Amino acid sequence: MNRREFVKGSVALMAVAMINPNFIFAAENLKWWQKKPVYQIYPKSFLDTTGKGTGDLRGIIRKLDYIKSLNVGAIWLTPIYPSPMIDNGYDISDYTGINPLFGTMEDFDELIAEAKARDIKIVMDLVFNHSSDKHSWFIESKSSRDNPKADWYIWRDEKTNWRSIFGGSAWQWCEERQQYYLHTFAKEQPDLNWENPDVRRALFDAANFWLKKGVGGFRIDAIVYIKKPEKFLDGTPDADGTCSVHNMTANTPGILDFLHELKREVFDGHDIFTVGEANSVKPEELPAWVGERGVFNMLFEFSHVNIMFTNGDDVWHRSKPIKLSEFKKALSDSQRATRGSWYPIYFENHDKPRSVDNFFPHGTDKILAAKAMATILFTLRGTPFVYQGEELGFTNTKFDSIDDYDDISSRGAYNLARADGLSDKEALKFVWKFSRDNARTPMQWNTSINAGFTGGKAWLPVHDDFKTCNVEVEERDADSVLNFYRKMSRLRNSSEVLLNGDYEELYPNNEEIFVYTRTLGLKKFIIAVNFTTHDVKLPAKIFDGAKKISGNYSDEKNYLRATEAVIYEL
Ligand code: GLC
Repeated sequence: MNRREFVKGSVALMAVAMINPNFIFAAENLKWWQKKPVYQIYPKSFLDTTGKGTGDLRGIIRKLDYIKSLNVGAIWLTPIYPSPMIDNGYDISDYTGINPLFGTMEDFDELIAEAKARDIKIVMDLVFNHSSDKHSWFIESKSSRDNPKADWYIWRDEKTNWRSIFGGSAWQWCEERQQYYLHTFAKEQPDLNWENPDVRRALFDAANFWLKKGVGGFRIDAIVYIKKPEKFLDGTPDADGTCSVHNMTANTPGILDFLHELKREVFDGHDIFTVGEANSVKPEELPAWVGERGVFNMLFEFSHVNIMFTNGDDVWHRSKPIKLSEFKKALSDSQRATRGSWYPIYFENHDKPRSVDNFFPHGTDKILAAKAMATILFTLRGTPFVYQGEELGFTNTKFDSIDDYDDISSRGAYNLARADGLSDKEALKFVWKFSRDNARTPMQWNTSINAGFTGGKAWLPVHDDFKTCNVEVEERDADSVLNFYRKMSRLRNSSEVLLNGDYEELYPNNEEIFVYTRTLGLKKFIIAVNFTTHDVKLPAKIFDGAKKISGNYSDEKNYLRATEAVIYEL
């Protein structure tokens, strides 16, 4: 940089600092959960210590040092509460207990303490839109029309044409009450009636129970559905005569009043973080949901992971191919909308296909792709969420028949496709692509039987790539996806620019590459990722005078090779 540029830069920096005095020290002011990534665990598939075929809390305790090696600050556990496991724990029958399948409350307390000793917090999943139909609240509610919990759920004499998210009618007939109850998800997951203050109180008490245990925060499940419309009307039907419940109830006006109450009664005054799961909240609505004026610290909105679906209802067989410009726009819109707040960066979770299959064309080198996704994951502005196996470069799985799938939504999506006239083979293709079981195959620890996940029979088959894709093998390989993740999280956690620099996208209309900068004061990083399987020329000499600090190829070129991802410092 010459003297003129330096003076120009310094004046610009002083101007920014005058407008916002916190600016220069912004990264230092960040909260603990902004400074380190979060690791998401699906306990059923993580590590089994007893030979029963399903993972458990002691398995997580055993692997805390491994998790620590990813430089994360928190672990988000998908539900570990007592549950009939119809939806693998998202059907809760006791909000303040531990499912014996996973262990005991003593195991949980030990997990909190052992994690704390490693400077890691445990984050719980709050499933407050619905309970299990085996919850004592529902058993009482369904017993008559005038019991004390009679209106703790949504009961109606007439049903509408709403289709539940897992397929089939969203209404279930109850013989005992001679009425229908609403279930946004499976029929075993009746929706709670948030209009009833006693329901809200009971849920807030449950959340406060976990705060007393010392948890570091909450991920709040399916929260956009808690407020129902005043009138229940039929929606415009699809070919099969039903209409998605999502389109009829998600994000109903008035929902934020409930959520502000949740914030007041539970979140306020604690050094925790909250992240809401909010399919269909639009980037422009984010300020009402997150940050100072909002209710959560972060929001998992779905704009970038659902771009293959034309409306929010995720009908798999009506998905369209992803256009890179749309994917980039979704991310950029969210980055801009959370400039004054915070964003949870994620590409995978227990509901989504593996990203190397989801976002790249057929024939892409999966290892390069995993590193390319990691490059983006750790360089956008926000807290990166790493989902178990993502750090090893896990890929989708393929079972021969729909009967081999455990995921309840896969069966629903398959049936809907068949009802729409698709053959078994055609319907199965969409299951391969979108099944949640893609993300739920067991964690791969080593080359031994069942990849070291269990000594018994794994509840879901281990992916057949486990001999090469596992923790033990990748730890030994300096060039592995795992070691790339470790490097990237170290880089991000120690870089003021990556932690809090401004985000700006370049070439938004380019359908081959994703290029953006992160800028803080005089420092600038430029990140570029090629989403194609061929060489791509850069639109300008953007790397001239810059230093390469990371990449998924070891050498340097002045163009981007297939699936190449680079970070340059200017
Ligand atoms: C959320 C969860 C998903 C679950 C659903 C119903 O979307 O992530 O796994 O099936 O809510 O609770």
